Amino acid sequence: MSRLPSPDLARVSGDLEILASYRDPEAPGWTRRVFSGFDRAGREWVAARMQEAGLRVETDAAANLIGRLPGTGGLPGAIVTGSHTDTVHGGGRFDGIIGVLGAIEAVRCLRAAEVELEHDLVVVDFLGEEPNDFGLSCVGSRAISGALDEGHLALLGPDGRSLSEALAAAGGVPSALGGARWPEGLHCYVELHIEQGPVLEQARVPIGVVTGIAGIHRLRARFEGRPDHAGTTPMSLRRDALSGAAELALAIERLAQGGVATTGRLEIRPGAHNVVPGEADLWAEARSPDAQWLDSFGRAVADEFDGIGARRQLGTTLTWISREPPVTVTDWVADSIDQAATSLGNRVLRIPSGAGHDASHMARLGPMGMVFVPSRAGRSHCPEEWTDLEDIGRGIAVLVQALVVCDHRKEERSRGRRSGLDD
Ligand code: GLV
Ligand code: MN
Ligand code: MN
Repeated sequence: MSRLPSPDLARVSGDLEILASYRDPEAPGWTRRVFSGFDRAGREWVAARMQEAGLRVETDAAANLIGRLPGTGGLPGAIVTGSHTDTVHGGGRFDGIIGVLGAIEAVRCLRAAEVELEHDLVVVDFLGEEPNDFGLSCVGSRAISGALDEGHLALLGPDGRSLSEALAAAGGVPSALGGARWPEGLHCYVELHIEQGPVLEQARVPIGVVTGIAGIHRLRARFEGRPDHAGTTPMSLRRDALSGAAELALAIERLAQGGVATTGRLEIRPGAHNVVPGEADLWAEARSPDAQWLDSFGRAVADEFDGIGARRQLGTTLTWISREPPVTVTDWVADSIDQAATSLGNRVLRIPSGAGHDASHMARLGPMGMVFVPSRAGRSHCPEEWTDLEDIGRGIAVLVQALVVCDHRKEERSRGRRSGLDD
C-alpha cells in the first residue's frame, strides 16, 4: 500500500484551538451547543476550512454542512466521512470535532499527494449530534437517513419553541427536509472519533476498530401533582411530583443491571423552596448492544412509572423520544480500517462503542465503520476530555488510508445492519 502524506500536526492543533475558541464563555468547559450562536459561528468557520481544502460546500435543509470532492469514476454512492462540532453543556474539545477537522485534514493530505478517489468524497459536519433542549440527538444524520419525522419536529423545548422552529433559525428548511435525504445511499461511511472510554488507553493500543454501536432508548417522564404550601400541607395530603420523579430515577438505576441507564435531567415546577413541586419532568436513557434488553428495560420502566403515579396520585405521561437499535459495523469497512491501520504500523483493537454516533444513522444508507483513538482516563462529556495530538494524528492517517482502501472496494454493496426496533 502506498504511503500518503502524514497529517500536519501543527495545522491540526491550530484548527482544534481555533474551533475551541467558539464557545459559550458563560458555561463551563468548551460549550458549543446546537442552535446557539456559538455553534453557528463555529460551523461557518468550519465551512470556510472545507472550502479552503478544496471541497464544494453546501448546507442542506437540515442545516448539515456538506463538502464534496468529486471522484474520477462517476460512480454511484459517495465515500462519506465526518462527525459533529456541537458539544454537550460543559463538554470538551475533541468529541465529534476530530472527526470533522480530521476529515478536512484527510482531504488536504489526499490533495497534496494528488491522490484522486474514484468515488466522490463527502465530508459532513452533521447538525446537532448531542441531545438538544428538545431531547433529540443526531438531528442532521437522522434527516440525511430519512429518520427525522414530524413527531421529532414538534418536540417542544423549555421556552415553548419547537424543534422545527429552532432548526429554521439555525438555517434549516423544515418544510423541505425530504430534500436532505440521500435516496442514492452511499458507498460507505467512515467516522473518526475519540473512544470516550478507557479501553484503548488501558490496553496501550492507539487505534480502535469499532465492531458495533450500542442502541439508545430515550424517554421523558412527566409527573403532575399539585403545588401547595410547604408549611401548611400535611405530608399525607401532598401530591409531590418531585418525590415521584426521584422514585423513578432510583428505579431506573436499579433496572439498569445488564446495561447502562441514566437520569440526566430533571426539571421541577414551580421550583421554589417553600412550594410542594407540582410538576416534574425527568429525562432518562438506557443503552445496550442487546435490543431485547432495551425492550424489556423499557417495559419495566413503564410499569414502575405507572405504579408510582398510582400510589402517589400523580398524573403521568411517558414519551419515548427516540429508540435507536444497536448497530453492527459492516465487516468489509471494519476490515478496511484494520488493514489501513496495520499497514501504517499500528496495533489495533476491535471494540464496541457505548457512545452514540451519527454513524448509527448513516448505517441506514449503506456500509459503515468507525475509527477510535484513545481518550485520557476515558473521560468525555466533561472539560477534562483529552486526546494527545499524536494520537489524533495517527487516527487521521488511518482515516486517509482507510478512505483509499474503501475506494478500491467497488464490488461491496452490503449495508450496515441495524437490529431490533427502528424509529
Ligand atoms: C453522544 O455523545 C452520546 O453518546 O450521547
Ligand atoms: Mn458526545
Ligand atoms: Mn460524538
